[in-house]
Amino acid sequence: MSKTSLPPLVDLGRLAAENPDTISLGQGIPFYRPPRYVLEEFIGVIPHPAIHRYAPDPGLPSFRKDLSMKLKRDNRIIAEPDEIIITPGANLAYFIAASTIADPGDRIGLISPYYFNHEMACTLLNIKPIEIPLTEDFELRSEFVEEVLADPRTKAITLVNPSNPTGKVLGIKELKMLRNLLEDYEKWLISDETYEYFVYEGENHISSASISGLSERTVTIGSLSKTFGVPGWRIGYLHAPIEFIKEAIKVQDTTAITAPTPSQVLGELLLQERKELIPEFFEYMKQNYEIAKKRLEEVSWLKPTPSRGAFYLFPRIIDDVSYSNGFDFAKQLILEAGVYAVPGEAFGKTGERHLRISFGNTTPNKLNEAFDRLVAYSPPEQ
Ligand SMILES: Cc1ncc(COP(=O)(O)O)c(C=O)c1O
Repeated sequence: MSKTSLPPLVDLGRLAAENPDTISLGQGIPFYRPPRYVLEEFIGVIPHPAIHRYAPDPGLPSFRKDLSMKLKRDNRIIAEPDEIIITPGANLAYFIAASTIADPGDRIGLISPYYFNHEMACTLLNIKPIEIPLTEDFELRSEFVEEVLADPRTKAITLVNPSNPTGKVLGIKELKMLRNLLEDYEKWLISDETYEYFVYEGENHISSASISGLSERTVTIGSLSKTFGVPGWRIGYLHAPIEFIKEAIKVQDTTAITAPTPSQVLGELLLQERKELIPEFFEYMKQNYEIAKKRLEEVSWLKPTPSRGAFYLFPRIIDDVSYSNGFDFAKQLILEAGVYAVPGEAFGKTGERHLRISFGNTTPNKLNEAFDRLVAYSPPEQ
């Protein structure tokens, strides 16, 4: 257990809270909430006795059915309801996927910079996380993937698409490259698509499991947290071939038993309204993306990188700036500039000398104010 590091946001979050004037571009949560009419419908269901009981282990049948339709329509994944497990959030879905695929001593490759909870889950399970570094321009190189897959101890690779923390959106060429390698080496893909609806600049989100040859070796992970602004309700899911689900359900039963029944009911209501809600939420997020991207160009000590998805920019701190450790840099930024951003190191070695700026968590006005502060700030030079 002690091998697993503390969540990187804890210390910095505390420091930001102790300095109440700080503007947080830290946590990757959206600032919108579900609309009142959905919540009122939900409140109407609460007195029903069934809502206070356990749901079946893999989730409410009606919700799994709705999710299978959503996966077919929105993701082009041929998903049957019994190939889906509803989980209390995408993080537990990852834990279930990793522990179903790999045993202690095995390895899982993480495309890096990675989402830190994936690294933490592997370490907790005694699975060795191995970084597959992106290049400086966030290109995914087949030789780096192959090097990890060629090790017989590697059981899977993990990707986050669109990426937390880089905002990189994987295109069809990269996914087909991965497909070819995963087929050759007969390994699994864990595809975390938590930010599936948030892609900008004409990018397209392609679900890994929609690609022939990948569908049979992919575990797709999804979440309602970001899509509908409900991270507190803990609603996620995984989709995988039925043989996989038969094993994975053991982990769900041992850990959560099932996702909370009220959360599943709310999730079902939100999913039914998604054609109305998602475009509206997307517009908020796109507006923030455009502000953040434009304003970043004014910050002379940060170099933009190609981010076109999720809620994040991941610029590089230029070489002229004195830099020994990202966590110290982020603390200094809170204390001297009044802005909280997450140091790139939290997402692996490839993240060094970067900052993750979350534009999802704040209103356009506050976001502009945070950038005013970043523009005015001059970090010490080398
Ligand atoms: C890539 C990724 N996966 C999963 C999660 C957690 O999702 P959930 O709230 O559904 O557990 C996050 C939250 O930041 C995330 O960025």
